[in-house]
Order: sequence, then C-alpha cells, then structure tokens
Amino acid sequence: MRTRELLKLHNTGHQGINALFAKAHSADWDIERDVDWSLPIDADDPLVDHEWGAFAKTPTFQALPENAKTHATRRGLGRILNILQVGESVAQDVCAKIALVVREEDYRNHAVAQAMDEARHHLAYRRFIEKMNEEVEDIDMGTEMTLDALLASNDPLTLIATEQFFLESLAMSIFERIQRHARHPLLKDIITLITRDESRHMGFGILYVAEWMRRHSHEDQVAFARQWLGQILSIVSDQPGPIMLTRLLQRLQEAGVDNAHQLGDQMLREQREINTREITQASTGERVPHLLKSARRAGLLKPAILEELGLQKHPLIVGALRSPGDTEAPVASAP
Ligand SMILES: [Fe+2]
Ligand SMILES: [Fe+2]
Repeated sequence: MRTRELLKLHNTGHQGINALFAKAHSADWDIERDVDWSLPIDADDPLVDHEWGAFAKTPTFQALPENAKTHATRRGLGRILNILQVGESVAQDVCAKIALVVREEDYRNHAVAQAMDEARHHLAYRRFIEKMNEEVEDIDMGTEMTLDALLASNDPLTLIATEQFFLESLAMSIFERIQRHARHPLLKDIITLITRDESRHMGFGILYVAEWMRRHSHEDQVAFARQWLGQILSIVSDQPGPIMLTRLLQRLQEAGVDNAHQLGDQMLREQREINTREITQASTGERVPHLLKSARRAGLLKPAILEELGLQKHPLIVGALRSPGDTEAPVASAP
C-alpha cells in the first residue's frame, strides 16, 4: 500500500457497516472498570450449571456424585475458555490483516475496531483462566487446523467468510449457552459484554457476505453457498458423540469415578435420544442455530441456490426458513 492509494479511500456507503464502526465506540467497555476482577474463584466452584456440559442432561450424568459433576463441568469449561482465548488472538490477527488487505474505508474501519475488541476478549479470557488457577486441557487438533488454515489466508473473502461469518456465528451459540448457564458473576459479566461485541462482528460478516453475493453471478453465489452450507450443515449436525464422551470419561476418572467407561455406554445411549430431540427442534424452526440464521440473512438460502444444491428439503434448511423474525431489513438491503 502506498500513500497515493490511501489518498482517496473509497467508502462503500453501506449504512449498516458504517454504523457498526460508530457502535464499536458507543458500545465499548473497559476491561478494568466494567468488570470486577477482585471477585474470588473458589477451587470447587463449577462456574456454570452442571447442565451446561455435553451429556449433562442424561439421567446417568445427573445421578453422579456432586464432586464428579463439578470436576467434569469445570474441566470442560476450562477447555472451552482456552479455545476461546486463542480464538480471540487469531481473530485479532485476522482483523489486522483484513485492515491491510481491503481497500474500502468502511471495511477497514470495522476491522481495526474489531481488532481492539478481540484484544480485550483475549485478555478477559486469559485473566479468567489465570484466576481459575489450574492447568487447562489442550485445544483439539481439528480446531487448531481450522485456525491455522485461516491464519494462512490473505484473501479478504476467505478471511471474512471464515472469521466473521462462519466462526463468529458458531461462537455466538457457544457464548449464549455459557451466558445462560453461568453461575459465577465475573464469568457472567465477561461473557455478556463479549457477546454484545461478537454480535457486531457477526453482523459485519453477514453484511459483507450479503454484499458479495449481491455483486456476484448466480454461478459464483452457488459455488460460495456450496462450500459454506456444506460446512455449516456438518457443524450444526455435529452433536455430542464418542469423541466428546472420551473427554468426559477422562474427567470423571480424574474425579475418582471408577466405573466411568460402563457409565459412558449408558450416557451415549441416553444422549442419542436428546440429540434426536434437538435436531427435531432445529428442523421445525423452534431453535435455529446462529450459523443457519446467518446463512439465511446473507442470502445463501435463496430458493434458486437451494434448488441448484438440492438442499430445498434438507430438514435443517427447512427449519431455518421456517423460523420467524430474522429477516432484518438492514442486512438484506442495498446501501
Ligand atoms: Fe472476540
Ligand atoms: Fe469477534
């Protein structure tokens, strides 16, 4: 980039995206003053309701001794917070890169404002983990590979579609779930403030993709939707199963549950019924994941695209189209 190129930066004039930059300031928060870091975190505090964890709704898990449930819940939360703290650092890198590679003034502005948010989120999670005062479980290989692939990209569409559109929509469901179940006031405050910022970031992803779709041919739109709907449907259908169970059984063994493996088979059977119920809720539109709402709002679920991809009758797509109330006009409208 040279000075000459920066002399007359083009603003797309998109009201929604320009408004996000202003909102980044008016909805800002102070990591030192707006949350109370003096609150203690006790070693035996599960920090979230036991029901938060995978398999925690199964009768077998619920019948476990209190200390085992607490240990498993807290270890699970620590693992997720560790993924989130590194995810925030990745997001900060991605935003710094977006600011350097995009030419549109409003897109650059959003990216630098978001980078500041991500730095604060990273710090908040890292400090919270430090206060938990325990070694957290490592992140998994799949997550690491996804984040590495993102960090290696220099293409604005790939960066924004992966970070703001896909990962932040995915993360939004994780944040809302922690927020719903948080018991510790510091955790609740942090996650509430972070979720507020993240909804803005996700908003940018949706608006950017919607604009990109609007400016590209039907063939390009179909190719984009094929790639992303494939990933979205596979993530949304990925419910608690054997891999998550392995981690839970490890935690239960650490807590002194000696028949953990035997209980595991039972939990897996019970969880399958819960999984079926939850998929049914998604396919009736009763509870639609953010990933599918974002896909819909960005225009990926248009009839012509779905027809070409043969997805018109996919139960999760049918559910996403059935759910009322998220056809917010500013997202779909042109600048
Ligand atoms: Fe963040
Ligand atoms: Fe974010």
